[in-house]
Amino acid sequence: MCGIFGYKGNKDTGALLVEGITKLDYRGYDSAGFATLDKGKIHVEKGVGKMKEISKKINVKKLKGKIGIAHTRWSTHGKVTLENSHPHMSCDGKIALVHNGIIDNYQVLKERLLKKGHTFTSETDTEVIVHLIEDEMKKVKDFKKSVIKALEQLKGMYALVIIHQDYDGMIVVRRGSPLLVGLGEKEFFVSSDVISFLPYTNKAFVIDDNELASITTKVEVENIVEGKKVKKKIQKFNIKGIQSGLGNFQHFMLKEIYEQPETLRKTYAKISSQLKQLHLKPFNRVVTVACGTAYYATLTGSYFFEKFLRLPVDVEYASEFRYKNPVIDDKTLVIAVSQSGETADTLEAVREAKKKGAFIVSICNVAHSTMVRESDFTFHTQAGVEIGVASTKAFTSQLLTLLLFALYFAKFKDEHNREQLVMYTNELLGLSDTIKKVLSGFSDIEKIAAKFTHYKHALFLGRGFLYPIALEGALKLKEISYIHAEGQSAAELKHGPIALIDKDMPCIFIALKDKLYEKVLINMEEVKARGGKIIAIATEGDTEIKKFADEVIYIPHVSEEVSPLLAIIPLQLFAYFVALRKGCDIDKPRNLAKVVTVE
Ligand code: F6R
Repeated sequence: MCGIFGYKGNKDTGALLVEGITKLDYRGYDSAGFATLDKGKIHVEKGVGKMKEISKKINVKKLKGKIGIAHTRWSTHGKVTLENSHPHMSCDGKIALVHNGIIDNYQVLKERLLKKGHTFTSETDTEVIVHLIEDEMKKVKDFKKSVIKALEQLKGMYALVIIHQDYDGMIVVRRGSPLLVGLGEKEFFVSSDVISFLPYTNKAFVIDDNELASITTKVEVENIVEGKKVKKKIQKFNIKGIQSGLGNFQHFMLKEIYEQPETLRKTYAKISSQLKQLHLKPFNRVVTVACGTAYYATLTGSYFFEKFLRLPVDVEYASEFRYKNPVIDDKTLVIAVSQSGETADTLEAVREAKKKGAFIVSICNVAHSTMVRESDFTFHTQAGVEIGVASTKAFTSQLLTLLLFALYFAKFKDEHNREQLVMYTNELLGLSDTIKKVLSGFSDIEKIAAKFTHYKHALFLGRGFLYPIALEGALKLKEISYIHAEGQSAAELKHGPIALIDKDMPCIFIALKDKLYEKVLINMEEVKARGGKIIAIATEGDTEIKKFADEVIYIPHVSEEVSPLLAIIPLQLFAYFVALRKGCDIDKPRNLAKVVTVE
């Protein structure tokens, strides 16, 4: 979703802005823009499309000055056009502003401003903010005070960076959407993600909600609701932990799929040490909140918790949970899962659960994220920076964390067979090597994928622990290859979806040798009888499966509780190779954003 980058220092800002904002392109965007302040005048350049094309079209050399702001836009209000892309300007051209978030009451404000004679050049909600500030400037005559007055009228979410031609700096504000300030040698950076200024400084602080930072020759932060100065805690961000660059890989998604043996090894070590620090009061029920891929992780987690802890688990889409007045009491444990820790719906679900008195354990991949700061306890997954929009390594690290969490607490439940728990632990210790084995079989998966690129639809089917993996496999295929794919419980086929089966509806069955294996074979037979094509993800050594499936992808045998972590790997590779053959923009699929900061 929208990315923000800003600079104030001694360097010429044009090239810096392009570099900084390009680092945020993983978030997803459809246009970008820049504004710099040079010799008392603001100069703006904008472009539509991806940064590669935009940077060819715009004149970076014209972006002179030591103060500048940049933005990548992921459209919400108004089409993908130059006019709608940020920065937006006041009528007098003296103020420029970039925004991430949504202004809920922009229509009312726009009507009011139009009546006052303001001219709007875009269809965005954002543009009202800059005109409001301009309006306040006429009365208050002070830039910062005008910003505060304008903000008092806004309803919604925002991260804003604003410059004024007569102000030697930037004003930065946050309510809801993430922003960090980086502190270099006599230079300051502002960004939606620390990754974009790390080549220059690893010292930064997070702007919290309702805080305004004035960045001039120094930085001053105040809470504008409380009207008080705030002393920020400066953090050092670990550069080593952040891998960048593609190495020998063609796409980040493939690189990230291949990183999984390592990210899981690191996550295992981290979570094992963190589990000892978690002290929970007794709980009799678990509620999980998450979105998208993270939701499928929680759905798999519900199987772990029910199996090992014998506790009821309600798996909720965060977006539904936040509006349903959920039943939560002090014996409910709420687990929130998010790669980014900035997903608007999941954050609001956490706030709702907290309001109702729940203890929040989050599972998150970004240590400086809002979710980490707002949770009572966080398990830090060690997937490293995930650049590919389609989540892969973050998903498996979430699965591993949920499984370790369930196994750890199962130890304290008397009915559990300790030997069995040790067996799972040993299996997990060997998981990285088992995954490496699956990854080494990529060429077979690539050949099978090549035969499936022409299909328009696909069904992914699994049962038990592998049912959520069928859902995640379908999501991976649809988001990067644009093939319509749905996940189902294989058992549900005959209750409806079987009507879809014909030669044009391939079915991808996850049919491992577990307790539901025989049942899944029956479902496969039903598909075959109706002329459907079948790919099976099967257990090594299973020759029986060849009677039913047109194509088989084998993976090593592991216990059914651990199998979700392994079965997703060939599905990630399958989706990748189908999308590659189709020539899709794999790391930045159309319409998608990596960080979903609006609801
Ligand atoms: C799909 C994907 C999304 C995210 C979802 C939640 O590949 O990445 O479905 O899982 O938007 O994002 P986080 O985990 O950042 O809360």
